[in-house]
Amino acid sequence: MAKLPCMFFFLSFVYADIYMHNPRGSNNRLDEAKRERNNANRLFDSQNNNRGGYNVGSLYYYAGSILSVEWTNQHSCADQNNNCEIILQYMCGDLVRDGTTTRTIPENPVQCKNYNCNNDKKFGMHEDSDYYKKCHYRIRNRGLFTADQNLRKFSARSTRQNPGGTRRGYECPEERDYYPYWHPSPWKDIAVLTNNATRCPFYERESENVKGRYECELPHGFLNSHRNRRKGIPNNEEDCHKIKYSFTSAQFPNGTTVNGTWVQRPSHNLPPPECRENDWSRDNHLGNGIDGFPNTFNWTLPDINEKHCVLRIRYNISTGDFEGWNSSVNASYNSRPVTKLDVASRFGLDEDEAKRRGYVYKQNPQVKIFGEDGGDFKLRLAINTNQFGRVFQDRSHTFGIRTRPSNLEGKTIHNLNVRGKRGNIVQVYPAVEYDFVPNRKTIKNGDYLHFQWTGSNTNPNNNDGQGKAGTDRNNVILLRPPQYPETTPKSGTYGHWGNNYPQHLDESVFLGFSRKDLQHLSILDNVQYGGEMSELDDAGTYFDLSPRKVTRNGIFHYMCSRNNNFSNRGQKGKIVVSDAEIVGKKIGWNGGNITIGESNAQGIWVKRGTFQKLHDISLEEWSKNDGEARVKAMGISVDVGDSYASDFLVIHPQEKITSDGKKFSVTLKVDSSISGTVTVYKANKNNPRWRKVGAHMKDGIATMQVDSGGIIMARSAPNVGLIVGVVVACVIVVVIIIGTIVYCRKHPQAWINTKRTFTNCNRSLKRSV
Ligand SMILES: *[C@@H]1O[C@H](CO)[C@@H](O)[C@H](O)[C@H]1NC(C)=O
Ligand SMILES: *[C@@H]1O[C@H](CO)[C@@H](O)[C@H](O)[C@H]1NC(C)=O
Ligand SMILES: *[C@@H]1O[C@H](CO)[C@@H](O)[C@H](O)[C@H]1NC(C)=O
Repeated sequence: MAKLPCMFFFLSFVYADIYMHNPRGSNNRLDEAKRERNNANRLFDSQNNNRGGYNVGSLYYYAGSILSVEWTNQHSCADQNNNCEIILQYMCGDLVRDGTTTRTIPENPVQCKNYNCNNDKKFGMHEDSDYYKKCHYRIRNRGLFTADQNLRKFSARSTRQNPGGTRRGYECPEERDYYPYWHPSPWKDIAVLTNNATRCPFYERESENVKGRYECELPHGFLNSHRNRRKGIPNNEEDCHKIKYSFTSAQFPNGTTVNGTWVQRPSHNLPPPECRENDWSRDNHLGNGIDGFPNTFNWTLPDINEKHCVLRIRYNISTGDFEGWNSSVNASYNSRPVTKLDVASRFGLDEDEAKRRGYVYKQNPQVKIFGEDGGDFKLRLAINTNQFGRVFQDRSHTFGIRTRPSNLEGKTIHNLNVRGKRGNIVQVYPAVEYDFVPNRKTIKNGDYLHFQWTGSNTNPNNNDGQGKAGTDRNNVILLRPPQYPETTPKSGTYGHWGNNYPQHLDESVFLGFSRKDLQHLSILDNVQYGGEMSELDDAGTYFDLSPRKVTRNGIFHYMCSRNNNFSNRGQKGKIVVSDAEIVGKKIGWNGGNITIGESNAQGIWVKRGTFQKLHDISLEEWSKNDGEARVKAMGISVDVGDSYASDFLVIHPQEKITSDGKKFSVTLKVDSSISGTVTVYKANKNNPRWRKVGAHMKDGIATMQVDSGGIIMARSAPNVGLIVGVVVACVIVVVIIIGTIVYCRKHPQAWINTKRTFTNCNRSLKRSV
């Protein structure tokens, strides 16, 4: 009985959160058959709800392919309700692993096989034990604001959020809570999404991708002595140099003294992380973003060949009650039981009155909002100083990144995966039910699509779903065409989401894939030879078609025949294939560029500060013929110039997107061999008239400055200068002729008077006849 209240406290305490859905976030799970994870400390500190996460399952992706990372976060981003930062990182290594036990990897080597925890494969491990050892003994940064928390360890194990120094895997608590971190870490930055993009230059500059980190290198053997361990590893240059360590060895039989050395470890030598504003999400809604889709980030996988990698996402939220990002909010405010953070002056109270009325920054203060004459009525505020300003985290299970085989070199590869787990919405929450990722995908004919998924066989047995209890299975089949005449879609549409019967497989219409591949996708016969497969029960959890070339245009609607039980469950996706190349990216205040086409010469280039907010920009390239048909369909006729000097480049959104008269650059490839004058024109769907755009031409590239998207193309016309010259010359000749005729008619006797006039009039009249 006595335990019950504690448990309630624990459950509500951990209810908060970020969950990665693709790739599958573990939330510290391995393969538990229960809804709750066994061990919240297995690999890292998530601070998430125990029910979150997916069971283990690994995929591989090709270097340079595009992976749609999807997640949900609980307390909003890009909203005034809090300051939110999302940090995406990865690490790879031969020893990085998921493990086979839900126990935490031990710290003491005696508890590991061959006294070597790094190599004891039974335990999951991301950061290694050497990394943790440094963290364990390194003196923590004492300049940090830790409020009124009692940090019980001297080292980087104790932080404001983890005052007791609890260990989770080999994660370093100080590194977990602070970014960019000041000592070496194995994490490589992918992206930082922030509420305040003006912090981006700082992140780009300070990222360990580009800037090496210092640490104190100690004389070998220093940490072997208990006394030295208690002194700790200095975290700054001055103290590091002060370390003196005396010892004798075979090399120094008379003894020697060595100092610590402050060394800079090299940076990861990678480009800085992509940095932009967050996508908006609503607090208390562990769900989708503003457009009804989960927030995502398109990760282009690095060009490496690694078997074991992990993706990490951190969600840093801080309260508006104090300025977490202001460096003057530091250790000078730390004090117990009440911090020295100034709350009083914000309310116009003097210090004494603020104290009397509870307007102080401390654990669960009780405030008298009515002042002295309001009696003794106090309201207790749920302020937990270790969570006001808090970081949540999720990490994927391990995955591989492979170099491409020669036949895939230079190709665009899109990953198409499955997220979610078996169960109804309540049973899987805060994970999600099955879905394809990305659910809607637009690709260019000729690109490669990589279907691959995994799942678990150990979901709770009573979770709802089709097929064998506890198991995840998937397949992909084109849906049948629409039934209702009134919803007849435009031609080139295959399958209809409203239906639940698959298209029969006589034709290999779906994506232009071979019949054999369609068979693999639907009955999984490349991974399973026979067996009870009506609901795919005998198949394994993993499926891989490997990248296949998409060769048929169309709008394809497809389903998974197993996880589709109309009114209960639906697993359907859509792929649009066309000859047009489409690329998209979100660009905000920090700027960025998007290129399209083969040589990356065409695209848009946005300087920092050009946009005031995040814009979802996409670029399309339409061939001349296709483009002309498309603009005509929009009611825009191509009535300028004589012939095309470029393809069509289409930039969305088509409205003005810059601020204060600022402009961004667009580059368009023009055919420089074409004769005549080339002019760049722009139109858009709201303004269907072609307007000239001033462009600078050089080496077959037209560069222009614009403030909105639209449809851009170049047309050529015979050289205007020449035409003007010819026209002017003709007009002059005609004027002379007419003038002469008129003169001669008015003065018919003119020839009598002078010889010269005669000759002229005579000639003129002759010529005019
Ligand atoms: C979280 O935000 C705080 C400021 O509120 C900052 O000091 C800290 O470094 C951030 N930590 C991470 C992991 O982003
Ligand atoms: C479809 O869902 C209904 C309602 O939950 C369930 O009774 C039925 O068994 C399901 N069908 C299959 C084939 O699992
Ligand atoms: C990801 O890429 C797709 C296709 O290029 C694009 O439509 C989408 O907007 C991108 N998402 C983000 C978050 O940039």
